[in-house]
Amino acid sequence: MTKDIVCSGIRPTGNLHLGNYFGALRNFVQMQEEHQCFFFIADYHSLTTHPTPGSIYQDARRVLVQFLACGIDPEKATLYFQSDLPETVELYLFLNMNAYLGELERVTSFKDKVRQNPNNVNAGLLTYPTLMAADILIHKATRVPVGKDQEQHLEMTRTYAQRFNSMYGAEVFPLPQALGSDGRLVKIPALNGSGKMGKSEGEASTIFLTDEPDVIRKKIMKAKSDSGPTVPNQQKPEEIENLFALLRAVSSADTVEHFDHLYNSCQIRYGDLKKQLAEDMVAFVEPLRQRILALEADDESLRRIIDRGKEKARESGLKTLKEVRHVIGYRN
Ligand code: TRP
Repeated sequence: MTKDIVCSGIRPTGNLHLGNYFGALRNFVQMQEEHQCFFFIADYHSLTTHPTPGSIYQDARRVLVQFLACGIDPEKATLYFQSDLPETVELYLFLNMNAYLGELERVTSFKDKVRQNPNNVNAGLLTYPTLMAADILIHKATRVPVGKDQEQHLEMTRTYAQRFNSMYGAEVFPLPQALGSDGRLVKIPALNGSGKMGKSEGEASTIFLTDEPDVIRKKIMKAKSDSGPTVPNQQKPEEIENLFALLRAVSSADTVEHFDHLYNSCQIRYGDLKKQLAEDMVAFVEPLRQRILALEADDESLRRIIDRGKEKARESGLKTLKEVRHVIGYRN
């Protein structure tokens, strides 16, 4: 297998939760073993919706710490802040020259944002996809691990890469493809019975990697369930299936089997299931939380990691930008 160049970013919108862990992070940790990986905190993209963020550095630092706690190894992968690689912005400018208003206006995420926030339809929001393309192309990435909601952006990245190559008659950029997870992806539901775990389902429905044991216990005991099965082997309604999905994520196979059997024989008591789930969840999250606390307290090491990430990102980014400037015809 030839080595891919993998690149992905995450916006620093809050603490990482269990959905992030099972959705992206575990996947990233695996990929750093197999490929050359660039992972960054998208702290420029934040400005498209929050132009005066106030605590942007603290927010970005917090997410970086949580990446490290989840197992991203700064020796294996390049982990950096997007704003530590300002070369991205120059590439963004070049890409914007060949990004058409019509195609940008048709982007689903843009139309959603316009609907949600009609008073802040700024040009940065419109050109979110070209900034994202710049993030990816600055490293000549070939693979981008992203969720379904980002596929349209990735498609545009290919469009811009191809357009650039043909415009300047040079094969500067590869066309990056989505990187599937080979079934490693585990969907983590929210605790309120519907939807994915994450911001939109609210804090009470979300287990954050920074949640203390008692907070986790409380959230799980309050999770939605129903009055129990009445017929043997009946199909589980969504909120019950969700509890089992969480159990499958953090409990042993025996435990899952145990409760599955109780469900199918109509003997289940959800209080017991939740108690077990809560303890297994605490056992899963607590080591991560402890690592987060330890990393947060070690400013000196963290600074070294951040500086090293910046250095590696810029080495890669500058190389690409030099070539880009050259093919356009600028002086280097
Ligand atoms: N748009 C992505 C999201 O909202 C974040 C992101 C920014 C990204 N730049 C990227 C993801 C480059 C992958 C590659 O989730």
